[in-house]
Amino acid sequence: MASISIRNLVKEYGDGYPAVNDVSLEIEDGEFVILVGPSGSGKSTVLRMIAGLEDITSGELLIDGERVNEKPPRERNVAMVFQNYALYPHLSVYENIAFPMRLHKGQFSKEEVDQKVRKAAETLELTEHLDRKPANLSGGQRQRVAMGRAIVREAAAFLFDEPLSNLDAKLRGQMRTEISQLQRRLNTTSVYVTHDQTEAMTLGDRVAVLKKGELQQVASPRELYEQPLNLFVAGFIGAPSMNFLPGSVEGTTLKTPIGEIELNEKQAEAGRDKEVVLAGIRPEFFDEASQVDASQRAKGQVFTAELSHTEWLGNEQYAYVNYENDPRVTDVLQSLAEDMDADELRTQLVVAVDAMSTIRGGDTAELWVNTRRIHLFDPATGENLTRDAEAGARLTEMAREDRQREAERAGAKLSS
Ligand SMILES: Nc1ncnc2c1ncn2[C@@H]1O[C@H](COP(=O)(O)OP(=O)(O)OP(=O)(O)O)[C@@H](O)[C@H]1O
Ligand SMILES: [Mg+2]
Repeated sequence: MASISIRNLVKEYGDGYPAVNDVSLEIEDGEFVILVGPSGSGKSTVLRMIAGLEDITSGELLIDGERVNEKPPRERNVAMVFQNYALYPHLSVYENIAFPMRLHKGQFSKEEVDQKVRKAAETLELTEHLDRKPANLSGGQRQRVAMGRAIVREAAAFLFDEPLSNLDAKLRGQMRTEISQLQRRLNTTSVYVTHDQTEAMTLGDRVAVLKKGELQQVASPRELYEQPLNLFVAGFIGAPSMNFLPGSVEGTTLKTPIGEIELNEKQAEAGRDKEVVLAGIRPEFFDEASQVDASQRAKGQVFTAELSHTEWLGNEQYAYVNYENDPRVTDVLQSLAEDMDADELRTQLVVAVDAMSTIRGGDTAELWVNTRRIHLFDPATGENLTRDAEAGARLTEMAREDRQREAERAGAKLSS
C-alpha cells in the first residue's frame, strides 16, 4: 500500500499542447480517488503518468515518498486495471491470474502461486470459474479476473481507466458495488478515471475534477455537490445539472427571469456589487408548492410558472419552465456548455417534482424554491461568491472519517 503525491505535474505531447497542466494532488495511503472531467480533460494522461506509461514533461511524482519520474512501469509496483481487461484468451482464469507471478521466474514456488491465486479467486468469488476461459465469462467476471491479477501482484496501488464503460447498465451497477467493497476490504490506494457521475459520487473518498488539463477542485463528493468552487464544478457535478439563472441583487432581492427571490443578507451581500450574477439552483431545491409543509415553506419562496413539459421517470419527475435569457450571460453559459461537453445552452429551468405529481405541460403551477441553498456565481470569473469553505471542509473531513471507520470494520471482518 502506498501514498501517491502528484506535484505540479505537466504533460505536453509532441505538438506542445498541455494535456495536463500543473496538476497537484496528494493521495493518502488506502484512499480511493476519482478523476472526472469531460472528454479530453487529461484524466487518462494523469493515470498513465502515474503508471509510468507516459513520460512526465515537468513536475514530480512520488510513490510512498519516493520520486519515481524516471522509474520504468514495472518498478513502480502499481497495477493498471484496463478497460479491455487484456486477458489472455487461450489461458484459463487460473493461469490469467497467475500470469504476473509467472513473469518473475523462480520468485514464487508452485505452492505459493497456487495459494495466492486461490486466495484472490476466493476474494473475487471466482473459485468455481478457475478452469474456464475468459471468452466464456460474463463482462463482470472478466473484470474480476483482471482485478485478481492486480491482487496477486500485491500492487501498492490500483489504477482504473473507465473499467466499466463497456458493460451494460445493470452489470455496471453491480460491478461498481463490488469494486467499492473490494477496495474497502483490501484498503489498497486506488485512482479511478470515469465519465460516470454515479461512479464518481459513490466510489470516491475524494473526487478530482479536471477541465482542459487543469484541476478545478478536489473534495469529497458531498463537498463538490454542496460547496462547489466554481461554475464549472457546479454544472458538471450533478444530473440533471444545476440551473443557472441570470439575475441582479438589489437590497436583498434577487431579480431573475422567473421572478424576484428574497435572499438572506449573507447571500445578498456576496452578489450585490456585481452587475449581473448567475444564481445556481439545483433541480431538487424546487418542489410543487402544495407538497411543501408550512415550516419548510418558510425556508423558501413560492412563485408561479408556466410549464413547458414534464418528464416522468418512474421514481422521479422533472418539470421544465422556459425563461427569457439575459444577453449579458449568453456567452458565459454557451462556453460553459461547451466545456461540459453538453450540446447546447438551455434557457429552461429544470424543476424536480414528486413522481406522483400530476402537473403537466401547459399548466400554470405554483412552485416553491428553497432559497437558502442558492449559490451565486460571478459570470466573469466563474467564482462561487457564496461558497462556505468551512462547511465544505467539514463534509470532506466526514468522508475521511467514514473511510477510516469502514476500513477498520473491513479489517475486523477479515481477521475474524
Ligand atoms: N498520444 C497523444 N499525442 C498527442 N496528444 C494526445 C495524446 N494522447 C492524448 N492527447 C491529448 O491530450 C488531451 C488529454 O487526453 P486524455 O486522453 O488524457 O483525456 P481524457 O480526459 O482521458 O479523455 P476521455 O474521457 O475522452 O478518455 C487531449 O486533448 C488529447 O487530444
Ligand atoms: Mg481517457
